[in-house]
Amino acid sequence: MGNIFKKLGIGLVVGGALVAVAHSQELPVSFQILFFTVALIGAVVFILLDAKPIEAMSGGKSLFAVSAFWILLVTVCVAGASLLPQFDPEDEKAKIGKLLEKERKQSTQGKAEELIARAKELDEKVKALEERLKGLGTGQMVATAPPPSTSEKPAAAAGGAGGDIMKVGEEQWQLQECYNCHKLRGEGGKKRGPELDNIGTLLTVEEIQQKIADPKSFMAEGYDKEWQKGIMPNKFKDLMDPKEMLALATWLGTFKNTSVNTPKPIKK
Ligand code: HEC
Repeated sequence: MGNIFKKLGIGLVVGGALVAVAHSQELPVSFQILFFTVALIGAVVFILLDAKPIEAMSGGKSLFAVSAFWILLVTVCVAGASLLPQFDPEDEKAKIGKLLEKERKQSTQGKAEELIARAKELDEKVKALEERLKGLGTGQMVATAPPPSTSEKPAAAAGGAGGDIMKVGEEQWQLQECYNCHKLRGEGGKKRGPELDNIGTLLTVEEIQQKIADPKSFMAEGYDKEWQKGIMPNKFKDLMDPKEMLALATWLGTFKNTSVNTPKPIKK
């Protein structure tokens, strides 16, 4: 008898512990009940181990005993299961339908907004490209107007691609979407990178170029984590030709607004 209480006690303790763990993992209450029940069933099994062994049976008696036990077991299982909440496919379908409906409404609205934003962005890019093409056009005219001389060509081409180096630099800022991470003139930057309004005071054009081409070359002071993670993408040297990068660096180099707290770049 003492043994029974001891085993029951252990079952309760184990069950309680399981419920506590399940609760801490935010499992549904039904699972917590299930765990507790399993612990109690375990205790009962251990208690039954102490029961007096039944006498060996044979023949018809044994067949009857096994059948009776089987029927009892099945009845208990079926009856127990039918006490639990039943799964009704129609019910579930209705629930899923409701969820989907909500999602659909949200996403059509969200999509429309997203598309509008995207269209605006593309429009801006087209404009920037158009302007750039205009620059190229005049540049070519300049290049072809004077009698072609090999030594003059690269300079003219540079002038053509540049038109105005500052303009190309600013265009690159827009095209490469540096503004996604950097605030400049109070615009852009989602707080992922430093404000760059005073970068011209801190870095030479050459060094800015180096930073863009190889973001690991310098580290903005206080941005150790971002630098380590490589937040600033290492792709710009593939996306810009050297002239464009020079233009961007030159343009950025003109930003010498000492009232903005651009972090000091540290040579790495
Ligand atoms: C995805 C975000 C991201 C983009 C896009 C990005 N940067 Fe950065 N940039 C950072 C972060 C973060 C830092 C600070 C950590 C570091 O130095 O790497 C940084 C640092 C810099 C610095 C050094 C600033 C200082 O005060 O030391 C310069 C210059 C710079 N970026 C220029 C650019 C230019 C130009 C572009 C566009 C061609 C660009 N970045 C695009 C995230 C970005």
